[in-house]
Amino acid sequence: MHTDVNALFEKLWDNYLSVTPSAVKVHELLGSTQKDDVINDHIALRTFNHEKIGLEKLAAHFLAVGYKECGEYHFEAKKLYAKHYEHSDPKQPKVFISELLVEQCSAELQAIVNDMVEKIDADAVTADNFLYSGTHWQVSSDTYKKLLAESEYAAWMSAWGYRANHFTVSINELAKFDNIESVNQALKDAGFALNTSGGEIKGSPEVLLEQSSTLADDSEVEFSDGKMAVPSCFYEFALRYPKPDGELYTGFVAASADKIFESTNAR
Ligand code: NI
Repeated sequence: MHTDVNALFEKLWDNYLSVTPSAVKVHELLGSTQKDDVINDHIALRTFNHEKIGLEKLAAHFLAVGYKECGEYHFEAKKLYAKHYEHSDPKQPKVFISELLVEQCSAELQAIVNDMVEKIDADAVTADNFLYSGTHWQVSSDTYKKLLAESEYAAWMSAWGYRANHFTVSINELAKFDNIESVNQALKDAGFALNTSGGEIKGSPEVLLEQSSTLADDSEVEFSDGKMAVPSCFYEFALRYPKPDGELYTGFVAASADKIFESTNAR
């Protein structure tokens, strides 16, 4: 596992850019060509609640670089459970890790997931690169479509595996923008499609967090029976509001996150 938090995020970022070319354009638009000039509010990762690779296994990599567990979230309709982690340095991104509760899914989905997980080398899970190691399996495009019919989340995992599902710009830290409406407008003016599930803006000042996101890029995946372009990763934007004590709210809002998950839906 990494012991340097910055080294870990650099690798996660490079891996994310390799399948999310639009992220570079978003950066330029929001005020910088240098990633160091955009502070990330959080990143998110996905997994299955299989004992070999459950969310705690992913979290271990963040605990090793100084993160602490902070909140938990339930997404009943999507059959997901999530936790978020924070670093003692508030400039480090928060980390949101979710897992699909596979026992609540069909026997067919469980069998496919078990096959995928079986192909992961046990040592790979604690290796430095696990969080940006991608897939350890190769499914067919037919299997991808079967998963997609039941769980977009499971289908995404089958195609993309372990990597940052999204990075999130902290609007609070942007010099050129101070509200989410103007960020969204700049994105739309530049031709980006936003996730409109639940409205362009998820959340409100009342719940102390407003979020929006682009729709995921389409990127080619090498399935066992050939290449096909499917939704990869996306960029999110978050504006946080102060709690009564004056400190910015650092948690997540389940109802908003529920809609953000849909940023990887096929268009
Ligand atoms: Ni997010």
